[in-house]
Amino acid sequence: MHWLITASRRLKELGILGMNRRNAACILDRNSRALFPLVDDKLRMQDLCRRIHVPTPIVHDSIDYHSMLRRFPQNLGDRADFVIKPNHGSAGRGVLVLVGRDAKGYRRHNGECVRVDQVRQHLSDILSGMYSLGARPDRAIFQQRVRLHPAFAAVAYQGIPDIRVILYRNEPAMAMLRLPTKASNGRANLHQGGIGTGIDLASGFTHHAVQRNRMIECHPDTGMPVIGLRVPHWPRVLGLARRVASAVGLGYLGVDIVIDEIEGPMLLEANARPGLAIQIANGRGLLPRLKAIDALCDKPREPTVNIAIPKWKKSA
Ligand SMILES: Nc1ncnc2c1ncn2[C@@H]1O[C@H](COP(=O)(O)OP(=O)(O)O)[C@@H](O)[C@H]1O
Ligand SMILES: [Mg+2]
Repeated sequence: MHWLITASRRLKELGILGMNRRNAACILDRNSRALFPLVDDKLRMQDLCRRIHVPTPIVHDSIDYHSMLRRFPQNLGDRADFVIKPNHGSAGRGVLVLVGRDAKGYRRHNGECVRVDQVRQHLSDILSGMYSLGARPDRAIFQQRVRLHPAFAAVAYQGIPDIRVILYRNEPAMAMLRLPTKASNGRANLHQGGIGTGIDLASGFTHHAVQRNRMIECHPDTGMPVIGLRVPHWPRVLGLARRVASAVGLGYLGVDIVIDEIEGPMLLEANARPGLAIQIANGRGLLPRLKAIDALCDKPREPTVNIAIPKWKKSA
């Protein structure tokens, strides 16, 4: 029992936001449920990005019905470098990264070959809702594959890292860089075994890292340090996250950004119920930062002083 009291005191000291408090004070108070369908829908978020001029990977095509499956290879034409994913997916489930094609079929990010009939089966599973939130029937998306930025070459194992920024009242509250590993299989999601690396908001440098809740300093597959990395285009990443949060209108939002080698920061997706693992990745809690943002936003404004211009000045 003693360890439990000590642990709970330690969490309090660190300002860790717990699940109940996140749900009550952040999600219920700040997030209108009416906006959840927008963020849960990757195609709708892509439309929003177009309207607010935020770069996002192009969606080449989508498959909405089983009857469209027969002709999918013809519709793709020569295209062989893309990502297939569920429109309503989460935690990296159902994401298939394809990098090329030969006589046998498509080639995955790890060199494995997938036959056309296997891709068709995967698409069919997506449509049936195997990977979607609430297991509801879904659509499958064919999306532009993001190219690895050289800054991440030594710390991303066969995949693209993404940056999660938590915004509270449109202000960045915490951020982490998620790095793909052999275990996470081409995806950066923590649930799949990706590494969560806390980012210092002011500088854009990583300062703390965990994999499956265990502190680490080096990438388990490449052996390179994951602390002290500078995220490229950091001010642009924060600016993009702010623009997306204010356009979406949710007071507590997770915005996921990828950095394409050529096109720079792009929105990958947004999340209305961002998980709390970001605190473990940063080795610190969200509460002090949320309080600081509240103080900033609720600060009474200086009354505007109406300065009357003397008549003699007006005519001057
Ligand atoms: N277009 C893409 N190009 C390259 N990798 C991608 C692409 N889309 C997703 N990924 C990889 O898959 C992971 C999960 O993708 P995401 O779209 O966020 O789906 P989910 O909602 O399941 O998390 C990303 O973190 C990234 O590592
Ligand atoms: Mg994601």
